[in-house]
Amino acid sequence: MSNKDFLPINGTDYVEFYVGNAKQAAHFYQTAFGFQPLAYAGLETGLKDRSSYVLRQGKITFVLTAAMTPESPIAEHQKQHGDGIKVIALWVDDATHSWKETTQRGARSYMEPKTVIDENGEIIMSGIYTYGETVHMFIERKNYFGPFMPGYRKWEPEYKPADVGLKYVDHIVGNVGWGEMNKWVNFYGKVMGFEQLVSFDDKDISTEYTALMSKVMANDNMRIKFPINEPAEGKKKSQIEEYIDFYRGAGAQHVAMATDDIAETIAKLRSRGVEFLRVPETYYDTVMDRVVQIDEDLETMKKLNILIDRDEEGYLLQLFTKPVEDRPTVFFEIIQRKGAKSFGKGNFKALFEAIELEQESRGTL
Ligand code: FE2
Repeated sequence: MSNKDFLPINGTDYVEFYVGNAKQAAHFYQTAFGFQPLAYAGLETGLKDRSSYVLRQGKITFVLTAAMTPESPIAEHQKQHGDGIKVIALWVDDATHSWKETTQRGARSYMEPKTVIDENGEIIMSGIYTYGETVHMFIERKNYFGPFMPGYRKWEPEYKPADVGLKYVDHIVGNVGWGEMNKWVNFYGKVMGFEQLVSFDDKDISTEYTALMSKVMANDNMRIKFPINEPAEGKKKSQIEEYIDFYRGAGAQHVAMATDDIAETIAKLRSRGVEFLRVPETYYDTVMDRVVQIDEDLETMKKLNILIDRDEEGYLLQLFTKPVEDRPTVFFEIIQRKGAKSFGKGNFKALFEAIELEQESRGTL
């Protein structure tokens, strides 16, 4: 059954991070990543238990939420997982229908459909659990005209560093435990009507030392793409296992954000202090053998250490940040697609070798 039948999704609505200090995290995403202030909820809006800062760049909306009390489930989440992604919210036309259809197919409910109203209109929201403690909220906002949601007020600080050209969420990857990939692939297939796009086994994604497996699930209009990774047996500990150890379970590993000009975006991010994985210079000695031709200047790509890959439909340019928390867990990918619909398989080996160097320095390889 296709998800057109029972779960139409317009796109990613927002990604909510539970963090230790939302005020400082918001400053980081403004300063380092160029997100623009949008909305705020906290003591000043009548909340006693949490504060949330909402930032936007292009179509990407991040919510940064921190607990105000030790009893809060937000505090517990942060204690268990460190700063991490709690909610991957999906923009739908009917949040009630979305909840009914998915819970009927076996999803565990997180929030029954609920209507929230203010002077700007109404939002209907509902939610289901996915891997680990991660949640998918369904957000219906066709009758809402405020900045974000009822309960939030416009946030307009004087401090507004320029954006860096990030446009939309390309995909969000989940890391799950040993032997659990197919369970979650089936969840997205059966409960949400997604189709499997591609599959990588440990032969595709391995180096001399570490390995992982991955399957990519996507919704009907391909606006939602969720690769699911699990660790695979290798001589040493894979990055997925390292994530699971530090996150204390399954969770979202990275958010890939698209740009129309990766050279400019990466140059700006680097100048603002964002740290990226580094592949060896030798990567560029052979990359054109498989990529053949690109519109961009190869020397610029090399200077910015941007990775390139090609598939049957075109090519893509991508780069991965180092983890953005104290724990080696969540990171970001910056991607520019020039026709390619794949995920950079040709870069896996070089990337994982770069990650192994990082793991080595953390003593977690
Ligand atoms: Fe990715």
